[in-house]
Amino acid sequence: MSPMTAFEKLTLPNGSVIPNRIAKAAMEENMADADQAPSPELMRLYQSWADGEVGLIITGNVMVDGRAMTGPGGVVLEDDRHLDRFKRWAEIGRSKGAQIWLQINHPGRQMQANLGQKAFAPSAVALDLGKMSNRFAVPEALTDDGIADVIRRFARAAQLGEQAGFTGVEIHAAHGYLLSQFLSPLSNRRTDAWGGSLENRARLLLEIVKAVRAKVSPGFAVAVKLNSADFQRGGFSTEDARHVVEMLNHLGVDLVELSGGSYEAPAMQGQSRDGRTLAREAYFLEFARDIRTVAKMPLMVTGGIRRRAIADQVLGSGVDMVGIGTALAIDPHLPRDWRLGKDMVPELRPIRWTNKMLASLANMAVVKFQLRRLSRGGSPNPKVSPLGALILQQVAAAFRTRQYRRWIAQRPAAEASTIAASGADLPIAEAS
Ligand SMILES: Cc1cc2nc3c(=O)[nH]c(=O)nc-3n(C[C@H](O)[C@H](O)[C@H](O)COP(=O)(O)O)c2cc1C
Repeated sequence: MSPMTAFEKLTLPNGSVIPNRIAKAAMEENMADADQAPSPELMRLYQSWADGEVGLIITGNVMVDGRAMTGPGGVVLEDDRHLDRFKRWAEIGRSKGAQIWLQINHPGRQMQANLGQKAFAPSAVALDLGKMSNRFAVPEALTDDGIADVIRRFARAAQLGEQAGFTGVEIHAAHGYLLSQFLSPLSNRRTDAWGGSLENRARLLLEIVKAVRAKVSPGFAVAVKLNSADFQRGGFSTEDARHVVEMLNHLGVDLVELSGGSYEAPAMQGQSRDGRTLAREAYFLEFARDIRTVAKMPLMVTGGIRRRAIADQVLGSGVDMVGIGTALAIDPHLPRDWRLGKDMVPELRPIRWTNKMLASLANMAVVKFQLRRLSRGGSPNPKVSPLGALILQQVAAAFRTRQYRRWIAQRPAAEASTIAASGADLPIAEAS
């Protein structure tokens, strides 16, 4: 077999083709307009990635429930009210031949308390972020009806995504959000059919994949972003990840993207909390190699990839796609540069603050700073001061939070409670 290069196309199980092996990984933009729909700034940002010749564009996470937000300024897709704006977004993504997939997500307990919404999770287990824990509400355990509603919402969002012209969806089951909370025995303490054994913990993800597949056409891509591990003692393990991939093998999944970690243990930023060391670049490559042995669908690995040589090494080891976030925020034209033989290595200044949680927030803020610049037609500035970016991010978030609270307050009560009506008074069996 000849070694794979970044510029060979990939044919997915659904028959569709991705023109090269480089994907823009999901990065939450916090750029929704006053209707929590895609804004003109968001369109401008995505035009840069389309122009940069990335083969696959995965959007920042889009919420399947307007009351459950990963952050302020998040795009919400629950109905066809603003579908014209989603159509425009999809059109821009496809304008230079890339595929564009909507990443669909539900935060579960990883929702900031100041958004003013009740948080739901598999069990009433709060996030442990040390001194920052009180920024997140203690979640309530989802009822059976609540779970059924979540499944319907993912399927509906995927269906709307297809109507809007996206070429696929990626179901976010990584990074400690709702589906990842169900997968982890640390956050899922249920004793019913949705908790306990791995089969039960994976049930919600599997049911969502099936419900989505049933609603979209066979040529529409359905992908899953999964942790290769949570990197927390007692959490979702590599062994678990391998088994979940085996369970997904038979469900018509077109690609699995491997990442790792959560808010509590941000391995996706290269940090582990369970003593294991991650590679300095392509953090999850070893895990991907292991999962490759059982996966029947194409695999993508994301995290810490910024050099062409590393991308080639990942592809050479049997992984089908490389996912890139940070480096594509600094240089949205990276694939084109690489194709033209320019070996750019977009990098940020390392942040060596002793408070790891703040350092991780500052890192996110520095990346979001680049996204904001691109969305305004400016050029990125990777040398921005992390403290400055963090302060700016706080100011932007405060503005977006007020905007969101106005939006949610104006929603007709009937609409807001469609799902919540979901048997809120049914008793649920909890282990603890
Ligand atoms: C600002 C920012 C926002 C992110 N938002 C998302 C998201 O919405 N969904 C997701 O799956 N991952 C998200 N991630 C994680 C990235 O997809 C990726 O897994 C991570 O950044 C590691 O890749 P990188 O080293 O190439 O940046 C985000 C990362 C950053 C820096």
